[in-house]
Amino acid sequence: MKAIILSGGKGTRLRPLTYTGAKQLVPVANKPILWYGIEAIVAAGITDIGIIISPETGDEVKNKTGNGDRFGANITYILQDQPAGLAHAVKIAQPFLGDSPFLMYLGDNLVESNLDLFIEQFTSRNLDALTLLCQVPNPSAFGVAKIDENGRVLQLVEKPKVPPSNLALVGIYLFSPAVHNAIANIQPSPRGELEITDAIQYLIDEPKKVEARQVDGWWLDTGKKDDLLEANRIILDTRLEAAVKGEVDEQSQVIGRVQIGLGSKIINCTVRGPVIIGNDCYLENCFIGPYSSVADNVTLIDADLEHSVILQGAKVLGIHQRIVDSVIGQRAQLKVAPQRPKALRFLIGDDSQIELV
Ligand code: G1P
Repeated sequence: MKAIILSGGKGTRLRPLTYTGAKQLVPVANKPILWYGIEAIVAAGITDIGIIISPETGDEVKNKTGNGDRFGANITYILQDQPAGLAHAVKIAQPFLGDSPFLMYLGDNLVESNLDLFIEQFTSRNLDALTLLCQVPNPSAFGVAKIDENGRVLQLVEKPKVPPSNLALVGIYLFSPAVHNAIANIQPSPRGELEITDAIQYLIDEPKKVEARQVDGWWLDTGKKDDLLEANRIILDTRLEAAVKGEVDEQSQVIGRVQIGLGSKIINCTVRGPVIIGNDCYLENCFIGPYSSVADNVTLIDADLEHSVILQGAKVLGIHQRIVDSVIGQRAQLKVAPQRPKALRFLIGDDSQIELV
């Protein structure tokens, strides 16, 4: 069995972060989202992995992720020169996939469940497609499935106005090579893309064996700010191990599960876990509350933070109001202006969102 991970797309729902980087590389608990997917696939025993990249962010994904050694995998990069849909991505990956059955994973998705069980079901039941489903309150934002009582998929629709159920398609699929013929027979959707949902519908109509299983536990599609914060909260809550490698002075209090990276200095701060602080950070007179991730080289002075993600090289200086539910981009600076007249001064990137009280 092989795997492909889709790591293209424009990431419009995560702007402005995605103007300067791939959405799949935005960190959750200081690790790129994409890497959780790679690790889950390797943990399920698949090591031959193709990553579909776009011309805009492909080099960044490639440089950061490498050839797979660090994951115990063998990674092949496959360039999709235009965002022509998920089924189009499978089409261009066909030379890599050959006649192998494969798992397809959307690189901005995170699930709690292990993947082994789904692979085992797919293989032992000799299926042509297995889709994973999760009950959601807003099915219209996803692909939606109608299934019978045996888990057989009757119908799939992409982002329906009137959803046939509340079962959303999780961005993880298993396919036999029969999907290539299905893709060769579908037409682009009204949004101009070759939809994987249409390819699966083709398999259902043929009829081929298409089943679905619901995932246990959480599923997150991290393409938006609030989902990213939620993923950060869950990963810190369930997977963070305490490890203090940086320097913490005697005036500071570190409470609960906290990770502090090498070269970081914590001076007169209270850090209440779960919190992760990367390498070479400088924190002075701060309160860092639960569910915060601070990336490498961040400076925080006189700052009060909770349930937030601070990316590499950012600086927050002298902001005495508590910052919550926030994502602060790489090298962004948030500070109190010393000049008069007393006023707010901004240089805010396109699509930024600021909420003031
Ligand atoms: C894609 C799929 C959709 C699926 C979703 C899961 O949508 O087309 O069926 O439910 O991923 O994340 P997109 O995120 O590309 O809008």
